[in-house]
Amino acid sequence: MNKTVICPGSFDPVTLGHIDVITRASKMFDRVIVGVLVNTAKKPCFSTQERMELLTESVNGLDNVEVVSFDGLLAEYCKKHGIDAVVRGLRAMSDFEYEFQMAITNKRLNPGLETIFLTADSDSMYLSSSMVREVGSMGGDISNFVPECVHDKIVERISKKKQTA
Ligand code: PNS
Repeated sequence: MNKTVICPGSFDPVTLGHIDVITRASKMFDRVIVGVLVNTAKKPCFSTQERMELLTESVNGLDNVEVVSFDGLLAEYCKKHGIDAVVRGLRAMSDFEYEFQMAITNKRLNPGLETIFLTADSDSMYLSSSMVREVGSMGGDISNFVPECVHDKIVERISKKKQTA
């Protein structure tokens, strides 16, 4: 059966952990939509346009993956676009409470929508976009944390942001 899933997130910016989850999902499902969304609890460093461009470049070569962005509820978007499940990466246990809350809320809003968790690989267990921003803004080496093809753009953007802050 044809299965479409969505990997939603802030992706501020994309990390190798995100790419690991998206790549694995692309092998498991027919179509994978990567959704660059609004998390009202966070103020993004990268614009939506920038986050989409970085992601689009990073998933180049994964033929069944597309990158989109939308405002509003994830559960509603999935209903409207016939998306079967949400795929999220789970890192440490500390992610669990937040992820569980989102999964339950999305199911209450759209009972047909499942959430599937993929365990982060050991290299990405403690990797986060906020850590990338912090290390990058202090001049640290982020080459082990972000896709090689967008590394320079991320470094440039983070340092530009620091100058204007
Ligand atoms: O990468 P993040 O910030 O942990 O991703 C969280 C995100 C963007 C997936 C979540 O905030 C979200 O789904 N936002 C869209 C609006 C929505 O549906 N909110 C209710 C979530 S239960």
